[in-house]
Amino acid sequence: MKLLTGNSNKHLSVKLSKYLKTKLVNSNIRKFSDGEIYVEINENIRGNNIFLVQSISSPANDNLLEMLLCIDALKRSSAKNITAVIPYFGYARQDRKVVPRTSISAKLISNLITKAGADRVVTVDLHAGQIQGFFDIPVDNLYATPIFFRHIKKKLKLNNIVCVSPDVGGVARTRGLSKLLNVNLAIVDKRRPAPGKSEVMNIIGDVKNKICIMVDDIIDSGGTIVNAAKMLKSKGAKEIHVYITHGVLSGDAVKKIRNSPIKNLVITDTIDNSKKLKNAKNIEVLSISNLLGEALKRISNSTSVSDLFK
Ligand code: R5P
Repeated sequence: MKLLTGNSNKHLSVKLSKYLKTKLVNSNIRKFSDGEIYVEINENIRGNNIFLVQSISSPANDNLLEMLLCIDALKRSSAKNITAVIPYFGYARQDRKVVPRTSISAKLISNLITKAGADRVVTVDLHAGQIQGFFDIPVDNLYATPIFFRHIKKKLKLNNIVCVSPDVGGVARTRGLSKLLNVNLAIVDKRRPAPGKSEVMNIIGDVKNKICIMVDDIIDSGGTIVNAAKMLKSKGAKEIHVYITHGVLSGDAVKKIRNSPIKNLVITDTIDNSKKLKNAKNIEVLSISNLLGEALKRISNSTSVSDLFK
């Protein structure tokens, strides 16, 4: 088993290599002066099982192409088996035609990864579970819920909590956490009048005087969560805590969260935000590395990954 890292999230790759007690493959991944990407593997990997770690995070197009070129280089270097470890699977939100004549990027990206030569994909909190079916190779979709559950149990008193889904699409995810915590569920009725814009219409469920825990897979511009938090506050919520797996945090999202009624936002390190979050007081990052590392170990030993979530 060997671990190769792309440039998108080296912090996480280093943590994974420590967990797995294996060195990162010696490689040279850089750009030519015109921006084209160059990948070179500097050690023999013939016959090895290789785990390539790369998030499709911003700059998404560069990181995606870097991943595809790495897979190609691994294939041409006679790796026995290539697992694309994609902690954040970008382009997943376009998973169907919402309006006519649009692309389905999640399907195209899945085709590209398979065509490049990956034998397996490991990812975390896919935007929609059914994207697994866009691949004809095995896909292991891991969940950050156990990490959030432990954090909530340590930090909050569980007797006055309600779990809130920020939109209808996130109900299954939120219900999973509310079941673990044995608390009620509320739902935000969100509409998207245009891509990147969100409007809160109503709250379904009782949030008055409650500690609200909002859960989502992605925080991008912050619009969904901040608008929902404002509505929850106006309906009498006592405190608002937010748990989100992927901190995309584009534009002025960090500032929006700082100036919002959100007491604490917890994200994971599927995306490297170390530079963005230097002065972000109400944003905390939990590492996914032990969970992901354990899953990779189990895949390598052909033991159960789903047992991690029982
Ligand atoms: C949408 O369905 C996702 O689960 C997130 O709610 C969404 O991507 C968040 O985007 P933003 O932070 O830009 O509102």
